[in-house]
Amino acid sequence: MCGIVGYIGQRDAYPVIIKGLKRLEYRGYDSAGITLFGGAAHVLKTKGKVTDLEKLASTHASAGATLGLGHTRWATHGVPSDVNAHPHTSNSGKISIVHNGIIENYASIKKILTENGFTFSSDTDTEVLVNLIEYIKLSQGVKIGEAVQISLSQVVGAYAIAVFDVERPNEIVVAKLGSPLAIGIGKDEYFIASDASPFIEYTNRTIYLEDNEMAVISRKKGFRMYSIVGGEALTPNIQEIQLSLEKIEKGGFEHFMLKEIHEQPNAILDTFRGRLFVEEQQINISGIEQHLDVFKNVDRITIVACGTSWHAGLVAEYLFEDAARIPVEVEYASEFRYRNPVINKGDVVIAISQSGETADTLAAVKLAKEKGAFVFGICNVVGSSIARETHSGAYTHAGPEIGVASTKAFTTQLTVITMMGLRLGQLRGTISKEAFDRVARHLVELPKQIGNLLKFANQIKAIAEEYKDAANFLYLGRGYNFPAALEGALKLKEISYIHAEGYPAAEMKHGPIALIDENMPVVVIATNKGHYEKIVSNIQEIKSRNAKIISIVTKGDESVKTLSDHVIEIPEVTEALVPILSSIPLQLLSYYIAIMRGCNVDQPRNLAKSVTVE
Ligand code: G6P
Repeated sequence: MCGIVGYIGQRDAYPVIIKGLKRLEYRGYDSAGITLFGGAAHVLKTKGKVTDLEKLASTHASAGATLGLGHTRWATHGVPSDVNAHPHTSNSGKISIVHNGIIENYASIKKILTENGFTFSSDTDTEVLVNLIEYIKLSQGVKIGEAVQISLSQVVGAYAIAVFDVERPNEIVVAKLGSPLAIGIGKDEYFIASDASPFIEYTNRTIYLEDNEMAVISRKKGFRMYSIVGGEALTPNIQEIQLSLEKIEKGGFEHFMLKEIHEQPNAILDTFRGRLFVEEQQINISGIEQHLDVFKNVDRITIVACGTSWHAGLVAEYLFEDAARIPVEVEYASEFRYRNPVINKGDVVIAISQSGETADTLAAVKLAKEKGAFVFGICNVVGSSIARETHSGAYTHAGPEIGVASTKAFTTQLTVITMMGLRLGQLRGTISKEAFDRVARHLVELPKQIGNLLKFANQIKAIAEEYKDAANFLYLGRGYNFPAALEGALKLKEISYIHAEGYPAAEMKHGPIALIDENMPVVVIATNKGHYEKIVSNIQEIKSRNAKIISIVTKGDESVKTLSDHVIEIPEVTEALVPILSSIPLQLLSYYIAIMRGCNVDQPRNLAKSVTVE
């Protein structure tokens, strides 16, 4: 987590860095800070968001500096506070650092530094690192680049760092292990950031540092890249990235989340465009086509993911088992990586991750590779760590998702998963032509159907008005709709801070039913495919305990309607695709409830979009 930005060139660094930090606030937003150098270095930092940093900066001179570092934080070590905010400065005041990651052995390093006379004002691991760099620089008589390299060889943990030393006023040193770091190369200027979004209006020439790589970026000598481990010079791999400014701005919507909900018709279209050919009964996902033997002969699939992506994995379990008859297990990446999972050569592990940077998922990918699995990534962010670390994969093509609560990333993940299920079923001869045809035809109808569903946003708003003050919510579904219920509950709790639980509808009898009374709204996904009669019985059970029932039903449904307080209709689609459609009203319900409660939907408290700490 945390976002870092840096600039060195001819421009005024302050506005470049502030704008960049705002684009990276999805990575954390509990404090922010900046170091500017224009003859002398000054550091400004504060608890709060980038706008609070701007207020602070308005009382200081910030113009004229052509070198700067910035940071927006998601606290790991030390509470969010002015003093724990980055940049951190060494004891001499000469070296500044911004850091994304965790230095795990900071306590033992701090002890050694303290014994050598260093003092600390914050509780952070980062302040330890900047002083270790200073200690090495002074004790070994080396320049800042070498001091960074030697220091990092003593560090255990994860980092993307940018370091500035007033004694080398034309240089910034950057390094990466575990956390992402992109460098934008302009004409006589360089940009540093946790992803490319802070610099896309200046340059599309980008270098993504790999693990164990560092660079010294100099106004005079240009860009020099080295290996952290051996110190040898490396040749940079410059890529031309395609990211448009328009896509990372709000485009007339009040919030990114609302914009991203409305982008789903196009995002889903972009996901299957050029990959799904309905008439030909063909699916062409190159990451599968290039490894047909692997998928044809696989005995089991393990899916690893976190958060919303884990819910997408659960849908994949139902679909792959159903269509391709492959046993599937879905694991929280954080649990998988710390067990001793049985993974054999020939197993396929699928990592699902919007950001492609989630630390636990990335570690699970590495573990699966070590154990001989073939690892396939379903990621949204192009060029992200998981996308690079996996043997092959499929991008979701949802475009940048900025709102912390995932919306279009989820439905596009499900789109990729549906295509994969069909292709694997076809490959293994386990899906009939009729079933393939039905699912494929329904899939291509989704963009239009979602567009129509979005027109009923006001109906959802009215329901939100009625339940916005509830203290608890229960979400129920069966079969494919069970993961959809989990995702609905997660959306609500993430952004409105209402306690919500998702449950398989039948399992409700084994606990949650004890909570049900007339104050408990229960959202039931009760579409006509799958286990319709069973879920109608579950609704009867809830009804007889006086709960308020909000049902998502198939258009034209009569039975559930008579039992429900509110009914939201979705078009009839094949069972595997219901989670995509049912997600739309559930996203809107959470969005409106959160807005009505005065919550910050794009930046909910304590959360971050990209969780690069474990
Ligand atoms: C965070 C985000 C969630 C996301 C999860 C996994 O918790 O707030 O929206 O689902 O991380 O992220 P990933 O990028 O791996 O899908």
